[in-house]
Amino acid sequence: MCGVVGVVGSRPCVETIFEGLKRLEYRGYDSAGIATMSAGKIHTAKSDGKLVRLEGHLKELPASSSIGMGHTRWATHGAPTTQNAHPHVTGDLALIHNGIIENYRELKAELLKDGYSFKSETDSEVVLHLLSRELKTTPKMKDALLKVITRLEGAYGLGILWAGEPEALYLVKQGSPVVIGVGENENYFASDALALLPLTKSVIFLNDGEVGRLTKSGVELWDFSGKQLKRAPSVLNWTAASAEKQGYRHYMLKEIHEQPAVIANTIARLVDSASGKIDTKEMGIDDLDLTRVKSIVYVACGTAYYSAMIAKYSVEQMVGVPVSVELASEFRYRDPYLDKDTLVIAVTQSGETADTLACIKHAASRGCQTFAVCNVRFSSIPRSSTATLYMEAGPEVGVASTKAFTSMVLCHYLFGLAIGQKKDRISKESYQQALESLRQLPSAVDRAVNAAGLIEDVAAKYYEATNFIFIGRGPSFMVALEGALKLKEISYIHAEGYAGGELKHGPIALIDKHMPVVAVAPLDGHYEKMISNVEEVRAREGVCIGVGDLQDDKFKALCQDYIPCPQVKDAALQTILSVIPLQFLSYYVAVKRGTDVDQPRNLAKSVTVE
Ligand code: G6P
Repeated sequence: MCGVVGVVGSRPCVETIFEGLKRLEYRGYDSAGIATMSAGKIHTAKSDGKLVRLEGHLKELPASSSIGMGHTRWATHGAPTTQNAHPHVTGDLALIHNGIIENYRELKAELLKDGYSFKSETDSEVVLHLLSRELKTTPKMKDALLKVITRLEGAYGLGILWAGEPEALYLVKQGSPVVIGVGENENYFASDALALLPLTKSVIFLNDGEVGRLTKSGVELWDFSGKQLKRAPSVLNWTAASAEKQGYRHYMLKEIHEQPAVIANTIARLVDSASGKIDTKEMGIDDLDLTRVKSIVYVACGTAYYSAMIAKYSVEQMVGVPVSVELASEFRYRDPYLDKDTLVIAVTQSGETADTLACIKHAASRGCQTFAVCNVRFSSIPRSSTATLYMEAGPEVGVASTKAFTSMVLCHYLFGLAIGQKKDRISKESYQQALESLRQLPSAVDRAVNAAGLIEDVAAKYYEATNFIFIGRGPSFMVALEGALKLKEISYIHAEGYAGGELKHGPIALIDKHMPVVAVAPLDGHYEKMISNVEEVRAREGVCIGVGDLQDDKFKALCQDYIPCPQVKDAALQTILSVIPLQFLSYYVAVKRGTDVDQPRNLAKSVTVE
């Protein structure tokens, strides 16, 4: 959740650290700080609030420091104040922490008894004092760290600066992500490779249970038993520009507009345009033993979960095995029935979501094959899975997921299609039909994205509403859920998504002339039923905003406002098109309401703690 950046080199580092923190702003945070070392002394600058406030304090740091680390904090233990901001410092030691120390109360009580006093209310400060105490009897930092971590429970990515070795940064990873950037006469670390993109493409992702030491000329790694490790760097394939706003007012808007290219590139990468053959090697499918797959369980959180619910509609039919979909946070604690014939698929943009990662580890411990559908190369979930299908949607920076969602839906579809074909479950005709829908999809997505103007007008009409209902049936039910999630995330309007058929089992009681109802009704097998639902809404004076086919005059006539949306034949792929107007609707409503679109309050892009 927190953002972490460290630099050790020979040139002044404060600006490099600050710029790195700026690139992590999207993760969500509420205070920030930097510590540097100069002439054997630690200096800090900290502030509550956003980085602009920290910027005003940067002059408190010696301009010439060439080693330091910064942190953006997403408050868990203790309010988002300057006092609670990291780095925490005692004497000649500074520490930043991403994660949660679950046994901090016991440790704090022990340290207080031992005469230590605390400046903050954080769980993190206990690690600082434990380490400071340990260094009194274990004078080598690596050895002291290895002792301290045996006392810690929970998740931690740590960065440590110590006057005892003024030329080195120490790192620890357990549960929270830590990536090392290898530069020229300069080395870095961060909680997210995005922070390092303009500095280096050469990276080493630490695994859980590893400790690192960085100097300007070297990287050393050990496991928690103290054994030295050798690890060659991997090369990132994202460009620095791909993580910039590129002239768009918000990242979210840029990412909505990137969808035609992402969809087109994914299809071009995975489906041979001449033969129609799907590249099962590139998709990671060849690394699975398909003969063993008797059932599939998808686990995911948030938007990724809704994408997986769409997979239930497409993949189950194509693959011909039961597919279930579970929230990762529920699955991991309910002791699910799993055997070696269950394939557990984690869907995750970041590859770092703590609950999803825990599910994959649990499934692997039960002998299941595990598969990741993920956007971020080398992230923790792919590294813990049997095989991975990389979405390659490019960096997604806006907290509200857009291009990752549509790209996930497409990846699930191709996964089902490829396995269905391998198992000879899909007729030639159906396969050709699927290919035709895939051929039409990129230009249809392009048309959907180009209809933004009309949606901005609709948003201007409804942005003051306090509640919204979204309805859909079949795969469009998930579009309704995703549309409601987008709206509440960034505009803070209460919104709920329902299956059209559920309306009369409760939600219809909410409908009156103050309740906008967004009805998603493409021309699929559920269309007539959806029209009946819309009639029911209108009969109760509900305000209906329709999302449907351009030529659909019947539906249009029933709605106060109507957003035409391109159509493809396949109902699962149609969700990619139907969700785009809802992404725009939430975006423009949020802009009208003046909320922070890219960094909505209380939310984080990558949820690396429970
Ligand atoms: C956070 C983000 C959501 C995202 C969810 C799962 O809540 O704000 O946008 O859908 O995490 O993230 P993942 O990276 O696993 O897809």
